[in-house]
This record gives sequence, structure tokens and C-alpha cells, in this order.
Amino acid sequence: MMMHATLSALFLGALLAVSLPAAAVDLTISCGTVGREREFCEQATSAWAKETGHHVTLATPPQRTNERFFQYLFDLGQGDSRIDVYQIDIIWTGLLAKHLVDLKQYISQTDIEQNFPAIVANNTVDGRLVGMPWFTDVGLMYYRKDLLEKYGLSVPQDWSELIDIALYIQTQERKAGQSEMWGYVFQGAAYEGLSCNALEWIAAYDGGTVVDKEGAITIDNPQANMAIARAASWVNTVAPPQVTSFNEEDARQMFQSGNAVFMRNWPYAWAMLNAKDSPVAAKVGALPLPRGGVKGISASVLGGWQLAVSKYSKNPEVAADLVRYLTSEAVQKQRAIGGAYPPTIMRLYEDPEILAAVPFLATMRPAMESAVARPVPQTGTDYMAVTTYFWDAVHNVLQGQGTAASNLKALEDQLRHVKFRGGW
Ligand code: GLC
Repeated sequence: MMMHATLSALFLGALLAVSLPAAAVDLTISCGTVGREREFCEQATSAWAKETGHHVTLATPPQRTNERFFQYLFDLGQGDSRIDVYQIDIIWTGLLAKHLVDLKQYISQTDIEQNFPAIVANNTVDGRLVGMPWFTDVGLMYYRKDLLEKYGLSVPQDWSELIDIALYIQTQERKAGQSEMWGYVFQGAAYEGLSCNALEWIAAYDGGTVVDKEGAITIDNPQANMAIARAASWVNTVAPPQVTSFNEEDARQMFQSGNAVFMRNWPYAWAMLNAKDSPVAAKVGALPLPRGGVKGISASVLGGWQLAVSKYSKNPEVAADLVRYLTSEAVQKQRAIGGAYPPTIMRLYEDPEILAAVPFLATMRPAMESAVARPVPQTGTDYMAVTTYFWDAVHNVLQGQGTAASNLKALEDQLRHVKFRGGW
């Protein structure tokens, strides 16, 4: 009798296991909102939800990366469990690590190792993989091929040539009735995007990276001064006065409407500029950024985004499965073709369909390898203070509040205080 009851219980258990799906879980993901990021995130998360029977809600964080960072830090600091999966910037892995799970518990070594080792290394904090690479980024120079051709000009090689051409075409186009035309747009608002642009100007002229690899503060030097003073001279001559409040999307919208000759932006802009309804579709080229003078280099800042699972998630295992899916080869491929998000999986750089959709990816691999990193490892938890003082100082100069020399000198002093207090 006893035996019989046990067998029936076993049978019932097996039946339940076969016929009942694992309980459906509700997850929340906070992915980006720049350009078409949200749309892409929605598509891929619903495909995963359909496949697994789980449910995913999208949270909407602020567009600017630094605002997003402080919101995340605040929520995670309180152990908030509302968001399971976070899209995190390449510069935050160390800053947020203690709130994130080690994805190595859930994602196979083979899946991890197909990504660029430098990104995996960046995302590994004290031996824990706190973010799975999702897409990478480098600064690019977009230009109007049709306008360069119209004026018989070739693609500029260095920053002064770029500004000369920008001003020339702007002037000619305005004479021809295009009264809204500007030569150059970039990210000039006081936020992380300006830190990236300014670092590119300075590094191109061999003016360093604000804080060097050993942690010494280097920002107050003649090349950096010159690079920032030059950039300030662009405002209201080749760049619109409102560029000092532009983020990525403001610059992209102006360029896409046909009112700028050159634009600095990240790869995602490519897909939007070439969309069917874009006024500049098929009229745009994209190149590495120009050199800083004859002896300078082409310096592009390295960006990029990872997916991370919160330690406070109630369903870390299911959340990690969503991360595994979103960062998989198939999803990275769709996002590269449809949205120009540069993959982090190395072999996708040889994929003919991706290269046909986003031709500059063929040359992006070397550009990524030589890209300029922001001074994150050397400043540690002080990075947000360093970058905030940096973009504020540069923003002052762009707005004509003090010279480059006086602002960079003051910046050097501010950074000394931060270093003294934080002791990086
Ligand atoms: C891009 C980059 C990111 C950077 C941000 C600045 O999203 O991928 O790394 O911090 O731009 O605006």
C-alpha cells in the first residue's frame, strides 16, 4: 500500500513536471533610449519572452549616460529589486560591480570568450564578470559625400583641414540659399558626451588623457590648452551656438535634416542617417576622426554597453538567461544590420551581411584596438568627479566663460583636491 502510494506520487510528480511549464517570471530591463535603442530592445526581449513564456517590462532611464548612472547608483544603493537587468556603460563596471552578479555562474565560458578579450577584461572586476558585452562604440566623423563632391573637395585628414572645409561649404551653401547650413556639429552639452569629444580633441594633439596611466594629473599642458581653445573658436563660426547644449541625438537630428556638413557621433547614427525616410540617406560617409595636425593622431574614444544582472533581482538565473539571449550572436547580428550597433563578438566582423549594411565596421576593428580609453582604471571611484570637473571646464571655455588656459589651470587644481581626498 505504502509502496503504491509512493509510486503514484512519483508518477504524479513526473506528470506535473512534463505538463506544467516552469513558473513564468516577470522581469524588468533598463535598456538605452538613444536613437532606436528602445525599439531594438523591445523587439529582442519580446522574442525571448515568447520563446520562454516569461514576461519582460522595459524601464525608461534618462538619455544622458551620467544622469542614468546616478539614478542606477541611487536605486542599487538602496537594494532596489525593481530592475533585474541593467544596460551599463563601459565606464561603470568598476563603479557598480558590488551591486551586480557574477555572470560566469550562468553564462558558458564559450559564450563569454567569443567577445573581445579587452571588453571582457574591462567587465571583470575582482575575477567576477559583472557585465556581458553587448555592443561597442568609437567616435566617428560623419560627412556629406555629396557636398564634398559638389565642391570638388576631398575628405579632410586633420582637424584644421576639416574646419576649413566645413567653413567653406557652410559659406557657399548659405550663399546658395541654404541659410540654416552649419559646418560641424558635435556633443557640446555639459555631460559625459562632451568629455568624450574633448578627450578626442586633446588626445589627437598629443595632449594626454586628463589623468595619465600612472594616475598623474596632466590636463594643464600646452597641447590640451590649444586643442580646447580651438574647439571654442568653432562655436558660432562653423558650429551652431546651440551646440553647447547638444547631446548625441541633437547633433544627429541637425545633421540628418541636412543642415550640417560634418558630425562627430557614434556608429548608431549610421543606421538612422541611412533610413528610408532620412533626407541624407546614401549621401553620408563615415570615417575615423581626423588627426591633430601633421604629427598628430586620429583619436577616437572607446565607448560601449554591457548587460548586467542586479544582485537584488528576485530571479537572477532567469535574468541571466535574458542577458545570454540578448548578447548572443543572432541578436548582435540583427542589431548590427538594422541599427549599426557594433558587435562585441569578434567573428561578426567577418560577416558579409553585416559588412554590407555597415561598411565602416570592416575598418573599425583596428580603430577599436587603438581607441582612447577614458581615465577610468586609474581614477577608480573618483572617475565621475573627474569627468564632471572636466566637462564643466571645457563647457565654460566653449561658452566663452574664461580662457582655455584659466579653465584648465583651475581644473588641474580641482582634480588635485579630488585626488588628495580620494587618493587614487
Ligand atoms: C556612448 C558611449 C558611451 C559614452 C556615451 C557618452 O553611449 O557608448 O560609452 O559614455 O556615449 O555620451
